Amino acid sequence: MRGKKPVNKAWGGRFSEATDKFVTRFTASVTFDQRLYKQDIRGSLAHAHMLHEVELINDDEFRQINTGLASILEDIERGLFEWSVELEDVHMNIEAALTAKIGEAGKKLHTGRSRNDQVATDIRLWLRDEIANIHVQLVRLQNGLLDLAEREAATIMPGFTHLQTAQPVTFGHHMMAWFEMLDRDKGRLQDCLKRLNRSPLGAAALAGTTFPIDRELTASLLDFDGPTANSLDSVSDRDFAIEFCAFASLLMTHLSRASEELILWTSAQFSFIDLPDRFCTGSSIMPQKKNPDVPELVRGKTGRVYGHLMGLLTLMKGQPLAYNKDNQEDKEPLFDAVDTVRDCLRAFADMIPAIQVKADNMREAALRGYSTATDLADYLVNRGIAFRDAHEVVGKAVAFGIDHNKDLAELSLAQLRAFNPSIQEDVFAVLTLEGSVSSRNHVGGTAPEQVKKAVAVARAVQALEN
Ligand code: ARG
Repeated sequence: MRGKKPVNKAWGGRFSEATDKFVTRFTASVTFDQRLYKQDIRGSLAHAHMLHEVELINDDEFRQINTGLASILEDIERGLFEWSVELEDVHMNIEAALTAKIGEAGKKLHTGRSRNDQVATDIRLWLRDEIANIHVQLVRLQNGLLDLAEREAATIMPGFTHLQTAQPVTFGHHMMAWFEMLDRDKGRLQDCLKRLNRSPLGAAALAGTTFPIDRELTASLLDFDGPTANSLDSVSDRDFAIEFCAFASLLMTHLSRASEELILWTSAQFSFIDLPDRFCTGSSIMPQKKNPDVPELVRGKTGRVYGHLMGLLTLMKGQPLAYNKDNQEDKEPLFDAVDTVRDCLRAFADMIPAIQVKADNMREAALRGYSTATDLADYLVNRGIAFRDAHEVVGKAVAFGIDHNKDLAELSLAQLRAFNPSIQEDVFAVLTLEGSVSSRNHVGGTAPEQVKKAVAVARAVQALEN
């Protein structure tokens, strides 16, 4: 006796028993890939358009497919669509619903295509849409940084190396450093989009199809730059998902580093900035606490994005050509990477303009840390002393300052001259914080004038690009 009737109408023809109930659930992707419904329907509309154009379906069938898919889209968006695990994935759920709605014509939609090229198309379309959203958030964050940098172009803070006070810098300059990191991320995102934007549709299962399809047409209907060049590669390539996660990982690295600084700066020990209450939470036990949860979470979420990158790389490394079911595992990491990056960018873009700068505290910290010691050394060099000797002289002056609890600018001329007689009254101009930052007045330097220039250049480029 033969087994039960197979459940799956799409491929059950050669099967003599129904799929095991657990295996049905285990192999299904519809619980997560239903997220692709819009792109799946868009791809099907383009495919049907092409089938009609090359006369594989007639006017009536084309019309029915169009109206059928439109009403399915509406059902899904109104929450009326019933997703079924038995139908495995988003593609077969929609196709089965179409056939249920319009009958025979629905069954013709799958002519000349496979779920393999269908899913490859859907994810590309989906990621392309998400890249556009992420781009908007990224630019919004960048613009927030430009405004903040301009506003605080002359605000002085200590610059750090080894987290020890090094030289005075301007807060605007620091914000522009963040801007630069994000600008490279934006370039990587655009790059990813460039390579992603090719249509795999028509590669079918792996080898192409015997039908006289028009791949240029479907590619252009879907706003791709053109069809992919090799059918085997088309159905198996997930480079674009990996590239996206590589972009996402670097972006998260940058957001995480900025988060770390925000967290330090809001601490009582630094007290360089305040974040408005709406970006913080309190402690249920310590009433004095105001915790920088948003940057902490961004820092924490960085790890999961790195994890998705490693996961996808590992997913691909052992796969022979062409499509393998392994590829179904590409979606959850990619979806989560996209969601995480988009939300983190949004949180940052909202938070940056709201940063309250405590300029007096930053200034105080810069004064306290002998941050103008290099300026004194440079001053001596300008009076003909070799830099290594000047370094030694200033080191002694700093040690003297530490012993007497005085910053360099607080020492008297006579005290300074004891270290080197070529020091004159004009030394105090370089020992001031303002003198120090404004003398670093070249491209890429921290002088307020340069920060304003950098902001202006960046604004002009932003206006051209976005
Ligand atoms: N749900 C599948 C995926 O996400 C779609 C492609 C299935 N193709 C197949 N031959 N089983 O990859």
